[in-house]
Amino acid sequence: MFSGIQPTGDLHLGNLLGAVRWWVEDQRQGETFYCVVDLHALTEPGDPAELRPATLTMATWLLAAGLDPDGCTLFLQSQVPAHTQLTWLLECTASMGELRRMTQFKDKAARHGEESARVGLFTYPVLMAADILLYDADQVPVGDDQRQHLELTRELARRFNARYGPTFVVPEAAIRPPGRGNRIMDLQEPNDKMSKSSVSPQGTIYLLDDPVTIERKVKRAVTDPDDGPDAVRYDPVTKPGVSNLLEILASVQGRRPQDVAGDYTRYGPLKADLAAAVISLVEPIQAAYLKWTQDPGAVSSVLRAGAERADQVARVTLARASDAVGLVLPS
Ligand code: TRP
Repeated sequence: MFSGIQPTGDLHLGNLLGAVRWWVEDQRQGETFYCVVDLHALTEPGDPAELRPATLTMATWLLAAGLDPDGCTLFLQSQVPAHTQLTWLLECTASMGELRRMTQFKDKAARHGEESARVGLFTYPVLMAADILLYDADQVPVGDDQRQHLELTRELARRFNARYGPTFVVPEAAIRPPGRGNRIMDLQEPNDKMSKSSVSPQGTIYLLDDPVTIERKVKRAVTDPDDGPDAVRYDPVTKPGVSNLLEILASVQGRRPQDVAGDYTRYGPLKADLAAAVISLVEPIQAAYLKWTQDPGAVSSVLRAGAERADQVARVTLARASDAVGLVLPS
């Protein structure tokens, strides 16, 4: 199993419920690799002085959330050179046309104009394919928004295997069914995913938020006009605000949002229970985070051991792929 997360610094509730919580749960299912994808962060403008702390902060949160260095391999993408090396071989496998069809590229390039978009933004999905294929991953837990990139990864693996002989395992997307945290939306803009780049900071709950802040953000979450006794209904299309609250509470409680809706008639009690549930979910993670931050040497040594293990596996796959395309391996 392989998965990756962007080095956005502080973890938010959407990251936790949609991804990291499942990584923690699955970390002992065979050999598992979890990666902070710091090279992917270079595909868009950013401040170099912020990247390093944001990367280490994200790694610290992953440990605080329960990734166990004895149960999985946690590492930084840039510390394993095979990721960029395999990317070249896969860039010579992918076509311009298929990369141009990636909706994430289209969206992001459209925002600032394609002319000035970084070439790395265009080839982003190829680096992601290299991440996955280096570890012979058969399961890749990703959010719904990464489905197209995973389909491309599968296509590149199949094409490479057909052209050069069996080299890569063709991975499967492990996308959770609805109601399992893969649709956590912004509390202020419930049609957008909860994200760090949200326009309103009130729409995103960070794991570092104190209880008062969490309560305030939940209380001010937009709902839809209260239309009487059955105002609390799960219907993401016509009632995106309240459906998101139900989705979050259901995800914390391990239930279906439709079932949670049955417990409430008004928004007030739903919000109160939601705030309490989120606070008790994040409290132990916050405590663990503070512990890890007091020992930055411990985080570095986890990452060092992780990069070493990842490198051992990745260099074997890279050699197999280099050999297959006809490169002369160092003797
Ligand atoms: N692109 C993913 C995202 O934005 C992060 C990522 C990079 C990833 N490489 C990966 C996820 C490999 C899964 C597997 O969420």
